[in-house]
Amino acid sequence: MLNTAIKAARRGATVINRASFDLDRVVVTEKQHNDFVTDIDQAAEQAIIEVLSKAYPDHAILAEESGASANTHDENEYQWIIDPLDGTTNFIHGFPQYCISIALAHRGVVTQAVIYDPVRNDLFTATKGAGAYLNDKRIRVTKLDRMSKALLGNGYVAGSPRALDEYLKMYQIMGERAQGVRRAGSAALDLAYVACGRLDGFYEKGLKPWDIAAGALMITESGGIVGEFNGESDYLYKGDVIAASPKIFGQMVALLAPFA
Ligand code: IPD
Ligand code: CA
Repeated sequence: MLNTAIKAARRGATVINRASFDLDRVVVTEKQHNDFVTDIDQAAEQAIIEVLSKAYPDHAILAEESGASANTHDENEYQWIIDPLDGTTNFIHGFPQYCISIALAHRGVVTQAVIYDPVRNDLFTATKGAGAYLNDKRIRVTKLDRMSKALLGNGYVAGSPRALDEYLKMYQIMGERAQGVRRAGSAALDLAYVACGRLDGFYEKGLKPWDIAAGALMITESGGIVGEFNGESDYLYKGDVIAASPKIFGQMVALLAPFA
């Protein structure tokens, strides 16, 4: 199943890479204020779904652009959770920070994960109970214990003025305590970066399951912790996520719990 997910991610990447050479031809539509979709998101999603549903016709699919397809024939309750292009705004601008994120959930538990950065050819994979890998090398979260040395990632879902106000307040708190805070524009890739130690922690409110599912398994399989802002574990569908190496996670929850 992981191999099929990798094949699907690479197929999606072919569509994205080809389009990245001629961004002027990309057709952009605004779904809501500052939330964009392109014809490339849609074409990549179709390419990914084609690979997955050919291999597993009975599996259900939840994908960012085409939504959920319930599959009543699947007694094993497998569901693929797909973000064909996480970081669409970056992609539109040619800012090289975006990825394909594919997770497989079995009875609601994510068991396989692929996050593929087609710009750097970074392939992150994880299987529940078998560890997380970057280009076939085992990855682990950092051992850091001091927030003052931590490099954090964060994100902001365009929405109400209240959400922006809250984001800025959180930024002020974390920016004062951490060594640095980055807003790179692809939540799935941010999570993969925590898993491989390029970041020590990440936080964002209002994410969707396709932004989180693969990255969350990547975090737990690399020795990190992922949870809601109050530390609880129902983050996948609630969408508020803190992910970090164990010692930094506790400190982040203590600082961000007022925003839960
Ligand atoms: C977005 C990115 C961004 C995050 C937003 C997401 P999209 O996904 O992950 O970093 O801040 O919350 O919606 O729309 O580019 O797939
Ligand atoms: Ca996304």
